[in-house]
Amino acid sequence: MPRIAYVNGAYVDHRDAVVHVEDRGYQFADGVYEVIHLFRHRLIDEEPHLDRLDRSLRELDMAWPMGRSALRIAMREVVRQNRYATGLLYIQVTRGVAPRDHKFPRNGRSSVVMTVRPVPEYPDEMRDNGVDVITIEDMRWTRRDIKSISLLPNVLGKQAAAAAGAYEAWMYDTDGFITEGTSSNAWIITGDGTLLTRPASHDILRGITRQEIIKLAEELDIPFEERKFTREETYAAREAFLSNSSHFVTPVTKIDDRVIANGEPGSLSTALHARYVEFMSDYPKFS
Ligand code: PDD
Repeated sequence: MPRIAYVNGAYVDHRDAVVHVEDRGYQFADGVYEVIHLFRHRLIDEEPHLDRLDRSLRELDMAWPMGRSALRIAMREVVRQNRYATGLLYIQVTRGVAPRDHKFPRNGRSSVVMTVRPVPEYPDEMRDNGVDVITIEDMRWTRRDIKSISLLPNVLGKQAAAAAGAYEAWMYDTDGFITEGTSSNAWIITGDGTLLTRPASHDILRGITRQEIIKLAEELDIPFEERKFTREETYAAREAFLSNSSHFVTPVTKIDDRVIANGEPGSLSTALHARYVEFMSDYPKFS
């Protein structure tokens, strides 16, 4: 069964899925993206992801490549043609193909590509053992709320984590406050049992998983505060975890070689992970 990609209206063999060399995404990283988890035939939080795509496009004065409902139909079709039960749907919209010139092209037409990648089910050992995180300086621009395809600092950060044998790098701002991970949001639970994550300003991406976790924490009666926390506070945390569409709620048990609490995933992180999996399992299957 060949993998199928979607490129500007055509469903093509993944190996033949190409864009023009003068696509502005390729030359200027002038584009935005979304990653949606396909969980056992469910497109998790499809509408909030499309809302965020809409916001990213508007913030950059970039046109939708097609109407929202037409995109939704194409998303379903590319997922259907790939026949995976579980995977990641990647959607990228750029300002399209035009002779290289920094200014927006006149009468430009946005490009859209979509791919579907099968991924294994969430590995239990990640939930049971947690992952290691390092901290690094946040080198990104000041509009991290826009899900831009310009990811060089994120790429370098993730590579630094991998080189250190860690799973993720949490970035800190010039005042020493954690912003987020290179591809995830960052959370801690303080000594008095309060769940903290950084407020959703221009400093971080407003994670769709983050939004869901806030609702689930309320349901589970976990005290919650949106406030900044420092690197030092993470070392002293009772629990820590990270969140994103591909790895839900993943406990963090070590930060910069400091073991968090007793080195085991904490009870609230584990409870939130379980509740999030339940939320996904109850999500309607797409048709
Ligand atoms: N990344 N922060 C950053 C910088 C991210 O890149 C992501 C997601 C998140 C979490 O957002 P969400 O819960 O909506 O997935 C936070 C995706 C998964 C990626 O780049 O692959």
